[in-house]
Amino acid sequence: MSGKTSVCTSTSESICTVAGTGMGTGTGTGTGTGTGTGTGTGVKAKRILTLRVNGATHQLAVLPHRTLVEVLREELGLTGTKVGCGEGDCGACTVLLDGRAVNSCLVLAFQAEGREVTTIEGLAPGGEEGGLHPIQQAFVAHGAIQCGFCSPGMILSAKELLDDNPAPTAEEVRARIAGNLCRCTGYQKIVEAILDAAKARLAAPVKPADGP
Ligand code: FES
Ligand code: FES
Repeated sequence: MSGKTSVCTSTSESICTVAGTGMGTGTGTGTGTGTGTGTGTGVKAKRILTLRVNGATHQLAVLPHRTLVEVLREELGLTGTKVGCGEGDCGACTVLLDGRAVNSCLVLAFQAEGREVTTIEGLAPGGEEGGLHPIQQAFVAHGAIQCGFCSPGMILSAKELLDDNPAPTAEEVRARIAGNLCRCTGYQKIVEAILDAAKARLAAPVKPADGP
């Protein structure tokens, strides 16, 4: 019989504890019977994580099992990255890791250490006043955003695509966003927006200073 209690009461604490107790009975042949009880404690410590997000460096005390999306949203307040399924199926949590689109619900925060994370907040750091990224502008112009839940992940997948392939076909766009589910738009307006964004970028390439 065993029992286990996990305690982590504050994000500012540097240590969380996991304590356990256990009892056991056993019978041995030839030497009689015996019983025993025991208690044990273990310590699961937060570790210091250095994370580069949208060009800024953060140092955080983080438990080793925390996912990247949890740290982005709950520790850094970057709630533009959404959580849908939490299992790698919907793409709502898509961010760029060294420029590649990943499901941040499947990435441990520590796996992102030493790499560059880009979230939707980093695509247009100045927000609307600073000017939206051309892909965001195209989504707005085409009505490719309805509830908006899929949009951050969809736009970052589109960014990865256009960085790889500045002039994709509609089929290539559909293939690249296949992992980003949208329950609202029927995808057609999203595909048209990405194709238009590609044309706009070719006509006026984005300078590094305009966004990652
Ligand atoms: S929340 Fe990560 S893929 Fe759905
Ligand atoms: S706009 Fe609602 S899920 Fe895509």
